[in-house]
Amino acid sequence: MESYKIQQHKFDVIVVGAGGAGLRATFGLAEKGLKTACITKVFPTRSHTVAAQGGIAAALGNMGEDDWRFHFYDTIKGSDWLGDQDAIEYMCREAIPSIYELEHYGVPFSRTDEGRIYQRPFGGMTTHYGKGTAQRTCAAADRTGHAILHTLYQQALAHDATFFIEYFAIDLIFDDEGVCRGVLALDMNEGTLHLFRGQAVVLATGGYGRAYFSATSAHTCTGDGGGMVLRAGLALQDLEFVQFHPTGIYGAGCLITEGVRGEGGYLTNSEGERFMERYAPSAKDLASRDVVSRAITIEVREGRGVGEHKDHAFLNLMHLGPEVIHERLPGIAESARIFAGVDVTKEPIPILPTVHYNMGGIPTNYHGEVVQKKGDDVDAVVPGLFAIGEAACVSVHGANRLGSNSLLDLVVFGRAVSHRCAEVIKPGAAHKDLPASALDKALARFDGLRHADGELPTAKIRLDMQRTMQTDAAVFRTGESLKEGCSKIDAVHASFKHVRTSDRSLVWNSDLIETLELANLLDQAVGTMHSAEQRPESRGAHAREDFPDRNDAEWMKHTLVKVDENGKASFDFRPVHMYTLTDEVEVVPPKKRVY
Ligand code: FUM
Repeated sequence: MESYKIQQHKFDVIVVGAGGAGLRATFGLAEKGLKTACITKVFPTRSHTVAAQGGIAAALGNMGEDDWRFHFYDTIKGSDWLGDQDAIEYMCREAIPSIYELEHYGVPFSRTDEGRIYQRPFGGMTTHYGKGTAQRTCAAADRTGHAILHTLYQQALAHDATFFIEYFAIDLIFDDEGVCRGVLALDMNEGTLHLFRGQAVVLATGGYGRAYFSATSAHTCTGDGGGMVLRAGLALQDLEFVQFHPTGIYGAGCLITEGVRGEGGYLTNSEGERFMERYAPSAKDLASRDVVSRAITIEVREGRGVGEHKDHAFLNLMHLGPEVIHERLPGIAESARIFAGVDVTKEPIPILPTVHYNMGGIPTNYHGEVVQKKGDDVDAVVPGLFAIGEAACVSVHGANRLGSNSLLDLVVFGRAVSHRCAEVIKPGAAHKDLPASALDKALARFDGLRHADGELPTAKIRLDMQRTMQTDAAVFRTGESLKEGCSKIDAVHASFKHVRTSDRSLVWNSDLIETLELANLLDQAVGTMHSAEQRPESRGAHAREDFPDRNDAEWMKHTLVKVDENGKASFDFRPVHMYTLTDEVEVVPPKKRVY
């Protein structure tokens, strides 16, 4: 193995990732006097949060009656009773101050005539525990993520955090006692290796949507945090729950916000029928995403799809009129024009459910501390390691996330991590020496992939993985399709032994970076397929045709999956937190589904 010179940096806290969660944590930590580094593989304002459109939920009640308890109930129901109720209470209560903070930091929210933050209806968001429709989703037109991300980056700069931009995180570094002590990263521009030491490492690396062929996720969403956690021998949670957004543009996969349906848009099939009225008579087009995605899939399967191949549906917004579209939905009008060749004021948008979000991820408590099951302790904290945002599984989304709860999750738990670190970390505390061998494994792996000389290009293995996931871990699943999917994805994982990287350099070696990313994706693809195969029930986004009902007696529990270096998945479980933080809200018990 080549010997590598490693530059060392010491901070109080290292944040990996500069999307909404990473930036909110970074500036919150810096604001509290902790010396904070944020390392990110893309320029912060290019992080995937920039693509979030419809908005961020909070029961502000600007457009009618609302209460955080209604939000709490909706989120639990939306999660199909797999969400941890203590974390959901925390998120829904803290949503309100978190949004006002964002407003004060400078997020340019759209406004009501009275000058308040504009809020639109979103799927599954109700008042009075399902009786009314809530207007809870705070929006900056249909570019809310863009507005939030830019504001948070400006705040992070103002608070003197140190950014290491275009650095790729390779592996977490632990000491012999299992305490996370830092992260090894590659400066992609200089081609140099860096060890970032911190009293805490916060993973804010986003989801792994790119394990699939068609996803609304950016190409950078390769689950780098989850991959590092699995390689550290820790478990990920609930990977079987992958959200399909009902309205990805047919063919291109780009997101068309649920905000369109919030503003009055609706879906139709080849007969011009507003078919959601049949599937969800009360919520209709604003039913939760799992319900709408399944409905579209059934319409296509039963021959009522639109287009030449009858394989998609239409999203209609012509009736909203150019004025509303121009003011509230300018971004999707542009996307529809560019990616579907459609003028939304005159024609419907061709859409299809597209992979959008990973409900599963790195298990944490509501402080953002990573937790694992250790003997009888089902919530044992991994010292020094935090995770937030889509990389994490808090779990506030359970088996299915409600639209606009994702931006909220980023901001609330990014903020929570900064509170927790300020409690447990002394600024400037000395760093414990690491054993000389601490980096050996990570360096050997890195060097091995850099010089990999097998017969399979990275792109070929990636495509095999993406096609397998798209076909066999889809909107609808059966025991048979999942069994086949497991054997196919295991074979794809095994083929990674034969990967070839053709560029041996270290400076802007995108071949190597894509190979490192693929390794992260592959482990999570295996974890996802096998987790889906072992859960014999339907819950949220996990729709098993051979087990159409939820099985609360046996399966109201979180799946924990480890994937070893040979791609072998093993399982354990954690109980769902069916308790709240205060007595201001009642535990919500599972009910039969009514949409
Ligand atoms: O449809 C959307 O605007 C997406 C929002 C979300 O995923 O939270």
